[in-house]
Amino acid sequence: MDGNLTENDLSGIVAADKAHVWHHLIQHKPFETTDPRIIIEGKGMRVWDQKGKEHLDAVSGGVWTVNVGYGRESIANAVRDQLIKLNYFAGSAGSIPGAQFAEKLIDKMPGMSRVYYMNSGSEANEKAFKMIRQIAHKKYGGKKHKILFRQRDYHGTTITTLSAGGQPERGAQYGPYTPGFVEVPHCLEYRSQWGEVSDYGERAANAIEDVILAEGPDTVGGLCLEPVTAGGGVIPPPAGYWERVQEICRKYDVLLHIDEVVCGVGRTGTWFGYQNYGVKPDMVTMAKGVASGYAAIACLVTTEAVFDMFKSDATDPLDYFRDISTFGGCTAGPAAALENMRIIEDEGLLDNTLSMGALLMERLEELKEKHAVVGDVRGKGLFAGAELVMDRETKEPAPEKMVQAVVADCMAAGVVIGATNRSLPGFNNTLCLSPALIVTADDIDEITTAIDNALTRVFG
Ligand SMILES: Cc1ncc(COP(=O)(O)O)c(C=O)c1O
Repeated sequence: MDGNLTENDLSGIVAADKAHVWHHLIQHKPFETTDPRIIIEGKGMRVWDQKGKEHLDAVSGGVWTVNVGYGRESIANAVRDQLIKLNYFAGSAGSIPGAQFAEKLIDKMPGMSRVYYMNSGSEANEKAFKMIRQIAHKKYGGKKHKILFRQRDYHGTTITTLSAGGQPERGAQYGPYTPGFVEVPHCLEYRSQWGEVSDYGERAANAIEDVILAEGPDTVGGLCLEPVTAGGGVIPPPAGYWERVQEICRKYDVLLHIDEVVCGVGRTGTWFGYQNYGVKPDMVTMAKGVASGYAAIACLVTTEAVFDMFKSDATDPLDYFRDISTFGGCTAGPAAALENMRIIEDEGLLDNTLSMGALLMERLEELKEKHAVVGDVRGKGLFAGAELVMDRETKEPAPEKMVQAVVADCMAAGVVIGATNRSLPGFNNTLCLSPALIVTADDIDEITTAIDNALTRVFG
């Protein structure tokens, strides 16, 4: 971008947007007197708005998506070439990029074997829920149909994924919900539900077992967890948690479905978040980083054992997974995903994620030392959160308005950061960072300096 845009150049666009576009996740009343932000162009780590103002994007497109950064011509070319050859055919047939990406993906996921394509994280999770329900019907007369989800986790925006949502402010006013979804406690040690315990990870996992026993193990078919909770406060699992979760799932024959929509494809420094913890899932869903937003693609990946359950009786017309996603047959998704993965490999972006992630945590720890309002910093790879509190002793959460003022101050300084919002009532107090995996040490300094200044201005 040449930076020479004037407001007038895009006044027609702004007017059309104000008149007709209903933006996601935002109250529109203020746009009666101000203009919405329109992002015009992106290159590397940076984006430009309608006023030509440059921003360093520390949240990969706002919602941890653009993992390989903006302006990747090679992905655009791969998509273009594929669209000219074949843009679409329904997913009941195969495609060249679909087969190639599935092979490449499975290569990164030992123990997994089948890839089902669709378009969004919500849809991928819905399909996993459908599989668990169908397995309950096929194997257990419909009884083992309950699906457990965790407080603070988020799995999507549809009514059923909201039914599996651990963030009450997201779900409020959209009920009644789909029955058969049951909440288990969160695993954020900073806000321990059991006071100070030496084995918090095991304790939090045991709480899942308590729920299974209370519901009846013969009624619980699946457990859906984020490997690192994202929008619920950036919560890496405490030590010992995943080992115990795995044991519990095996003990009670509960399918383990890991939602990698945010962590998937590099964000935590491994291909998938669960691979940090030695877990062996039955189902894995992914979306955002799969093609870094260059095309819409989501995947539900299963083991061969899960897949086998859907082809046991070819004479039964209801035996297979009777599901379709029309746009799951778009070839742009896997074409973009293939090139996205090649970039991560060839540019060593997993290693960069580990080293830059360590630097980011170091800088955040420095901010914690300097600003009393930073109560806790957490993260894994290039995925980090800083929880703001008014008092370190009582851990009273900072008010959302002040947290949002920090975000706005960074934005004014040309750095886009995020914060938990519409998650848990009273706990929208965690700043979120998820820069692209290409981030440099200078970028990290720029991001944390902007936060440092903003904290000083807002909290003194
Ligand atoms: C962990 C997690 N799962 C699922 C989703 C839903 O994905 P989508 O918005 O693509 O439907 C999100 C979106 O933020 C998410 O963070």
